Amino acid sequence: MTSNQKLINWVNEWAELCTPEKVYWCDGSEEENDRLLGEMVASGMAVKLDEKKRPGSYYFQSDPSDVARVENRTYICSAKKEDAGPTNNWADPVEMKATLKGFFKGCMKGRTMYVIPFSMGPLGSDIAHIGIELTDSPYVVVNMKVMTRMGKAVLDVLGNGEFVPCIHSVGAPLEPGQEDVKWPCAPIKDKYICHFPDTNEILSYGSGYGGNALLGKKCFALRIASNMAKRQGWLAEHMLIMGITNPQGVKKYIAAAFPSACGKTNLAMLVPTIPGWKVETVGDDIAWMKFGKDGQLYAINPEAGFFGVAPFTSMDTNPNAMLSAKANTIFTNTGLTPDGDIWWEGIGYDAPEGTITWTNEVYDKASCKPAAHPNARFSAPAFQCPCIDKDWENPTGVPIAAILFGGRRPGTVPLVYQSFDWNHGVFMGSIVGSEVTAAAIGLKAGVRRDPFAMLPFCGYNMGDYFGHWVNIGENAPDKTKLPKIFNVNWFRKSADGKFLWPGYGDNIRVLQWIFERVAGTAKADETPIGFVPQLGSINTTGLDGVEENMAELLTVNKDQWKDELDLVREQYAAFGAHLPKELASQVTAIEARFDK
Ligand code: GTP
Ligand code: SPV
Ligand code: MN
Repeated sequence: MTSNQKLINWVNEWAELCTPEKVYWCDGSEEENDRLLGEMVASGMAVKLDEKKRPGSYYFQSDPSDVARVENRTYICSAKKEDAGPTNNWADPVEMKATLKGFFKGCMKGRTMYVIPFSMGPLGSDIAHIGIELTDSPYVVVNMKVMTRMGKAVLDVLGNGEFVPCIHSVGAPLEPGQEDVKWPCAPIKDKYICHFPDTNEILSYGSGYGGNALLGKKCFALRIASNMAKRQGWLAEHMLIMGITNPQGVKKYIAAAFPSACGKTNLAMLVPTIPGWKVETVGDDIAWMKFGKDGQLYAINPEAGFFGVAPFTSMDTNPNAMLSAKANTIFTNTGLTPDGDIWWEGIGYDAPEGTITWTNEVYDKASCKPAAHPNARFSAPAFQCPCIDKDWENPTGVPIAAILFGGRRPGTVPLVYQSFDWNHGVFMGSIVGSEVTAAAIGLKAGVRRDPFAMLPFCGYNMGDYFGHWVNIGENAPDKTKLPKIFNVNWFRKSADGKFLWPGYGDNIRVLQWIFERVAGTAKADETPIGFVPQLGSINTTGLDGVEENMAELLTVNKDQWKDELDLVREQYAAFGAHLPKELASQVTAIEARFDK
């Protein structure tokens, strides 16, 4: 299928080490996809959903120990520990490779090694990058088909060129005659998700789930790409990309970074609750951004599908996600109904009698055991999204007018505020924090700092990453065309623990304020932390019982912010000399403004 000798040699080398029963080169065809899914149904790994209810769709249950990313088993293996920085697990690349060679030796025994050529970004575009994933998981193959452009066409574009080598194994060799399990994987202590930024390599062992196993996504498009972006002067970010059109027909694109399970998919596809506004989706998880010839920052979505959080996605909260997943979708760890459909908590109707849970038990509402794992996901093709933007595959990308940061913050952080300038905006990104969610295994509850929503995804020293963001602003071809920067918080709670803001489709009201700030019309108060909407400047027409919350939603409390800044100082201390002075000075500047 290819004459790329380097690629052929590399595949042979790994096949020799992993000793699969056979090596299979994926062509990316529908026929191949159907065949692999059919084989997985036959082996009991997958369930085909009812063809009328969910055409072309399949259901999977993972092993209960393999349900999300494993951050404490994720490593950045740069030559120097300092280059991984204080927020990443580091391991010496030579030692880690030796350890991993031990694990990979014979690890595909009794299985097929699939060779998956894939492109992150539209095939053949200048901005796209090609990777080759080797895996012994057919589940990974069918997911990569949804999430990336994959198959023979990628090899044609690659020719004799360079690719990012990605090696993955579930880490469960089969002895002759040994029966396979439904979801093979290795115990947590033997899982390794490793990145070698100096050589752009990825090695992932022991997990079959999501970001651990679909190596184009977090491993390549964020951890390795953030290194490439730093070297080459662009940005690889954990951001959604969306277009917003106002009632006058003016369209602006924004990008937004929220930590995992904090609302990117929902915002990217929101259905506006105010008349005349329109939202269109370019991407829901990852943005690659570069300056265009006109001096604007342009963004592309390197992915081809959505790997979305299922629970609490419904026709009420996110109809566009529900419709994206109505066919040709892979569901993992949701519930399964007796009539061959899926179900999850918050889907908008009761579970049919006899629904099976993600742990394969009959669902019993009274037992408090959920039908769907909180990190249950759907993998749906982006082109099926009813509000997909006409430019979502445009190789030049879309021009970004505003960048948003946000997280789940029950207190302190107002509904929305705008930075005074670029570096102040970089500061805002650097202090993003959120209450912990189910998207990763084994985290302590409470608010954790997740700078730029990149804590688990930045492939190098986070302090240097902050510096890179400062440099992007400093070296911008035209500083007046830099995106304006905002922070949003849909999750502020009242003293009695209730959300003060309705969220979801009503977030368009905050987007309207942002849109109009970019246009220079919306009114704001200058506070020590930035520009906060003037009371009355956020459109609450038609909202019941929210007007009386607005003052609290927009409050900037001096004592809370002093506590916040103490925590920021603590956070910043870890970066030592890698912390840009442009950020350190923001802390003192805000304090000075409070004390004025
Ligand atoms: P990853 O795919 O993990 O990166 O997550 P994401 O940022 O795309 O998160 P997603 O949009 O899937 O949202 C995760 C959870 O947040 C879902 O359970 C949503 O119901 C909830 N959520 C999203 N938007 C809002 C909102 O505006 N208000 C409230 N209260 N909850 C929200
Ligand atoms: C996230 O956790 O931010 C995700 C899901 O988008 S995963 O691909 O599993 O990382
Ligand atoms: Mn994500």
